[in-house]
Amino acid sequence: MDKLKLLLVLLALGLAVGTSAQIVKGSLADEGGNIVNAHGAGIMHYNGRYYLFGEIKTGNTWLVAGQQWEDYRVPAGGVSCYSSKDLQHWKYEGVALKPTVGDTSSDLDTSRVIERPKVVFNSSTKKFVMWMHIDKKDYSYSQSGVAISDKPAGPYHYLYSVKPNGNMSRDMTLFKDDDNKAYLVYSSEQNKTMQVCLLSNNYLSPTKTFSRILIGRNREAPALFKSGHKYYLITSSCTGWSPNAATYAVADSPLGPYREFGNPCRGKGAEFTYQAQSTFVLPISGKPGQFIFMADRWNKLDLPKSDYLWLPLKVNGNTVSIAGD
Ligand code: DGJ
Repeated sequence: MDKLKLLLVLLALGLAVGTSAQIVKGSLADEGGNIVNAHGAGIMHYNGRYYLFGEIKTGNTWLVAGQQWEDYRVPAGGVSCYSSKDLQHWKYEGVALKPTVGDTSSDLDTSRVIERPKVVFNSSTKKFVMWMHIDKKDYSYSQSGVAISDKPAGPYHYLYSVKPNGNMSRDMTLFKDDDNKAYLVYSSEQNKTMQVCLLSNNYLSPTKTFSRILIGRNREAPALFKSGHKYYLITSSCTGWSPNAATYAVADSPLGPYREFGNPCRGKGAEFTYQAQSTFVLPISGKPGQFIFMADRWNKLDLPKSDYLWLPLKVNGNTVSIAGD
């Protein structure tokens, strides 16, 4: 093959790799060959790199006694961070938020629950802000915690946790809009209704501006994203660690009102979200309309062995579709 042909082949290969969204089905390894430990994860794109944050799950899984549901737990392991330029090669950045040991009054104690961490950058304060679900092992605490860092990968300094406007907050996500306003979205009111709360300009506290959405619909695992001028919210039903059918809703503003649609998943396994549960929808940088649906395949009897499912997601008007497993 002459040099020109070789160049053309390499170029074509490069383009093909560049346009294919990252698909993950199972475990994911970092550059060191270690399994990525980042559950209930979210991704922040900053300065040309993707930063993945998630729950560290290690140790034995046990069932919390006296609960009406399958409350399987591992010690709260804090939050991990990995970074990547291409969503394919992940560098382990370390523990972004450490748990504390032996102080049950601390939100970050290993006896507690630290779930679904999400991070956004505040371009005014130049700080990276992490929000997460903080709870007690029986999920009665129902608060959102916030931590801050000067650097994308951390370490993050934990500030406090709060019930936004006095309301319960469990499964959550964070969404930063193009106008730099940021919102906390969380399962509230005993998981019956979701709420969306506008954060303060520094992203460190809830404001009094909030709305009740998906009222009485019993949804959790929110993943909010924007395509064009519309906002799309994927959620799951509330069945503990067991999979169920995802649904989505569409709005003209992050605060709603949201119009509910059906299941975005297509094909075999769609009625159980291909055995997974939503955690985040990532816009692919520089590729408008292209997204990755990120979900967790929980292994409730051995939570550290939980896997990941990342699939391409497409939007066409009010229709969101996730390709089959
Ligand atoms: C479902 C939630 O989506 C998870 O984040 C976790 O809180 C489990 N429930 C606990 O059973």
